[in-house]
Amino acid sequence: MRRTYKDVIWKEALPRMAADTAMVHLSALASLAAVVLWQSTGGGGVRTAQLMRELRGWYLHCFLPLSVVFPAVFFASGFYTRSRSYFTSYKWTVLARGITLATLIFLFAAFLVSRAEALPRSAIVVFIVLVNGMAVGARVIKSLISQPGGVSKARNVQVVSAGGGDGASPVLVVGGAGYIGSILCRKLLARGKTVRLLDSFVYGNEAVRELFGHPHLELCIGDCRNIQSVVSAMKGVDSVIHLAAVVGDPACEQDRHAALEINYAATRMMTEVAKGYGVKRFVFASSCSVYGETEEIVDERSATGPISVYAQTKVDSERALLKARTESFHPVILRLATVFGNSYRPRFDLVVNLLTAKALQNGIITIYNGDQWRPFIHVSDVAEGLICALDAPAALVSGEIFNLGDSRLNYTLTEVAGTIQKLAPGTRVEHVENPDRRNYRVCFDKIRRELGFECRVTLEEGVEDLRAALVTKKIGDYTDSLYHNQRFLKAAGRLTSKEEIDAQVMAAFALTLENHQNGLAPIHARL
Ligand SMILES: NC(=O)c1ccc[n+]([C@@H]2O[C@H](COP(=O)([O-])OP(=O)(O)OC[C@H]3O[C@@H](n4cnc5c(N)ncnc54)[C@H](O)[C@@H]3O)[C@@H](O)[C@H]2O)c1
Repeated sequence: MRRTYKDVIWKEALPRMAADTAMVHLSALASLAAVVLWQSTGGGGVRTAQLMRELRGWYLHCFLPLSVVFPAVFFASGFYTRSRSYFTSYKWTVLARGITLATLIFLFAAFLVSRAEALPRSAIVVFIVLVNGMAVGARVIKSLISQPGGVSKARNVQVVSAGGGDGASPVLVVGGAGYIGSILCRKLLARGKTVRLLDSFVYGNEAVRELFGHPHLELCIGDCRNIQSVVSAMKGVDSVIHLAAVVGDPACEQDRHAALEINYAATRMMTEVAKGYGVKRFVFASSCSVYGETEEIVDERSATGPISVYAQTKVDSERALLKARTESFHPVILRLATVFGNSYRPRFDLVVNLLTAKALQNGIITIYNGDQWRPFIHVSDVAEGLICALDAPAALVSGEIFNLGDSRLNYTLTEVAGTIQKLAPGTRVEHVENPDRRNYRVCFDKIRRELGFECRVTLEEGVEDLRAALVTKKIGDYTDSLYHNQRFLKAAGRLTSKEEIDAQVMAAFALTLENHQNGLAPIHARL
């Protein structure tokens, strides 16, 4: 599992790097010219000629640092690998941050080398304004005439390539560019399946970019709240694996409205479209967090007790899906344990991953309420479990709920810390109490008994793999908000439906009867 410079598509990146470097030089020249003009307004021709000589000297002096520092910092900031697929507001933040950082490094390096200013002070401000303006302007113009991946622009859905696969109809993976989906899609493709991926690339498309152009991948760039996108993506499909969501308690708290729309209303809408198109299998990624806080060992027959908006949207979606079951429509619910391990879209807002990164970087980890139980599962095993539910005979899985995990991977948070401590010796563990009382110890016998599913990756192996990726810098800065759903959504702004009609469709699907029937307040009233 990699996320390295190899992932850069050089054919596309090099011309963009060249264009940005030219833009930096142009800005330097223009800012110097502005200074000449300003200073020469009071002087005669001789003074201007002197200034021109002086400023030519300035330019030649900073030519090399400009050509090296800016491309290097832009590259390291992800300008050519990631920023293109970010949401707009976050993209501008990344750009401005990269440009400011490059300018500071350039000025500092030039000062260290020659003990002189790299540019006249009056030119620096003009330079920064110009570089920012040109970088933003060029990208705005480009985004108006093209789309990510160099594909032509359609209104809602772009099918980038059509595949043949094993000859069977494609598997639609909704949310396939995420932490779990990016591994699942690769596993499905490796097994000869044709994959149709529907994703709006909330966190960018880097995790699946190397798959673009794969003969068995059909890419639909679209929002699962948009009924046209869903209809186009669902056409000709036999089975669906639905992963798209606002994932995690903090991320859902950050944008409750989007959580209701994406996690619940869109699931209901997709269920109806799937049934309309004769989809047979619909595998849904739910979560063991539906069990809430309990001292018992819970299994699929235990009562749910969601204590967060995220868990509530999962409970309500499960209920809607199971109710939609017919003789020919087979929903399968998988309640995933807490996932850990490295992926093509690493996440460091998950407890094991975050603690591992902190142990390596800071040498100290903080455990909140260490005696609480959580079930864990490696991200690769999640993908295996999803495929297992996809391929199992309908009679075994139709309308069934399975906890997806392994009873051997129930750990207290203190035990998790102990495992990390063993693999990152010298780590200090600090214990703190906080109000997060999520505590659940889960029984995974049903999936083992009925589908023969067992996890293959242990906690130690997953932590070690992640540790190696961090130590060898295959994963960059783990604090980057790209790796933290809630932090990213905070920076990116609200995930509002793009069109009014989508919002109306979502509102219609959010008005649900199931909650009333079960004596609960309707979900929209609780958000
Ligand atoms: N990771 C875990 O620990 C865990 C645990 C239990 C359940 N799950 C469930 O597994 C699923 C996948 O989780 P993940 O960890 O891969 O999350 P993720 O945040 O990495 O991926 C979610 C994917 O969905 C896409 N998406 C979001 N909103 C969309 C929209 N409106 N339209 C189209 N695509 C959209 C995103 O772009 C992203 O690619 C989720 O349903 C989650 O609730 C995850």
